[in-house]
Amino acid sequence: MSRVLLFTGKGGVGKTTLSAATAASLAAHGRKALVVSTDPAHSLGDALDVRLGAEPSEVDGAAGLFACQIDPRGLVDEAWGDLRGHLRTVLAGAGVDELDAEELTVLPGVEELLALAEVRRLAASGPWEVVVVDCGPTAETLRLLSLPEAFAGYLERLFPTHRRVVRGLLAGVAGTGSVEKWDATADALSRLAERLDALRSMLADSSSCSVRLVLTPERVVAAETRRTLTALALQGIRVDSVIANRLVPSPGAARGAAASWLRTRRQEQDAVLAELTGIGEIRTVDHRASEPVGVPALLEVAEQLYGDSDPLPGAAVSESLLEVSGSGRGLDARYSLRIALPLSDDTELDLARVSDDLALTVDGRRRLVALPSLLRRCIVTGAEMDSGGVTVGFRPDPSLWR
Ligand SMILES: Nc1ncnc2c1ncn2[C@@H]1O[C@H](COP(=O)(O)OP(=O)(O)O)[C@@H](O)[C@H]1O
Ligand SMILES: [Mg+2]
Repeated sequence: MSRVLLFTGKGGVGKTTLSAATAASLAAHGRKALVVSTDPAHSLGDALDVRLGAEPSEVDGAAGLFACQIDPRGLVDEAWGDLRGHLRTVLAGAGVDELDAEELTVLPGVEELLALAEVRRLAASGPWEVVVVDCGPTAETLRLLSLPEAFAGYLERLFPTHRRVVRGLLAGVAGTGSVEKWDATADALSRLAERLDALRSMLADSSSCSVRLVLTPERVVAAETRRTLTALALQGIRVDSVIANRLVPSPGAARGAAASWLRTRRQEQDAVLAELTGIGEIRTVDHRASEPVGVPALLEVAEQLYGDSDPLPGAAVSESLLEVSGSGRGLDARYSLRIALPLSDDTELDLARVSDDLALTVDGRRRLVALPSLLRRCIVTGAEMDSGGVTVGFRPDPSLWR
């Protein structure tokens, strides 16, 4: 399995440029790299100045650099089109209203999901050591990253676990052949669920997969960046660096109107970056006079981005999500669970115990965090929030403790 680096950020900040630059630099340093775009706004080919297909091909004049453009629409037709039609027939056969059947077979985000599953397939199949992914804009990507989990839950609810029940039902109400059809559909759904499981393991495995967040230092970016970091942390996805693109060059001691314009602009940008301190190292790239197009120009960008260091590993920006501390064995023991999440003053946080899980809702995004076994036998005593996360206190539950 290759290392996977996902580049995300708002539209137009430089995701495509920086992911292509990173892959080009990896290849130039002798590590085979594949850069793929899952963004429907295809511009990876423009940045590399080559024509791209859906299958990886080596970029002319750049040994070890492969690139391709995933076509989500095609994947959907291929993987879901048949299944969907099939499922509708089965549901209709089982007496489900046509309209309801239609609704049940519209899966949210299936395009993005299949695009990511394709990334996973490519990561498992190529000669490349690293797969660099040019993802869509942040909001979409976040939704996309939470999909495998949401989607698996959806399938679980609807199908495989009820497989036998539905089968019996069909045998009773529908004509011959529908049981066989249901079996085929249920098998296809299980295969889809398996793919999603594999995808989820890939995303949550911080040793093989991490996110690089790209931003341009404009006002309001700081709060939004924190929110994005929080949302990713909530999903257990590691962010390994934050990159500020398009910093205007500092004019030094130059005088004149142009120099003064640059100076002011740069001071504003520096102020935005200063607001972001505390989230770890931020790499920067200058706003170039001309668009970096083609491998040589991309390598210059990479040079500024990574200097002499290896483009592959990044210093971890996010800590691991959970950490338990505390001591004692008796009923007077006290433990605390640290949930690392970058939070800001106006973050709305809600915490609830739901049997063996903690339900954490941050600005409307809910995530169940499975409690370590020790803490399942404890009662929550309180919670405190700071800019780096939440600390939840626990004490043994006398009825469960021994
Ligand atoms: N550091 C930079 N200096 C100058 N132009 C840049 C820089 N980074 C990106 N661009 C240009 O800005 C535009 C948007 O960049 P792109 O990488 O396509 O952003 P995204 O993929 O996030 O939408 C492109 O035309 C690109 O060539
Ligand atoms: Mg792009």
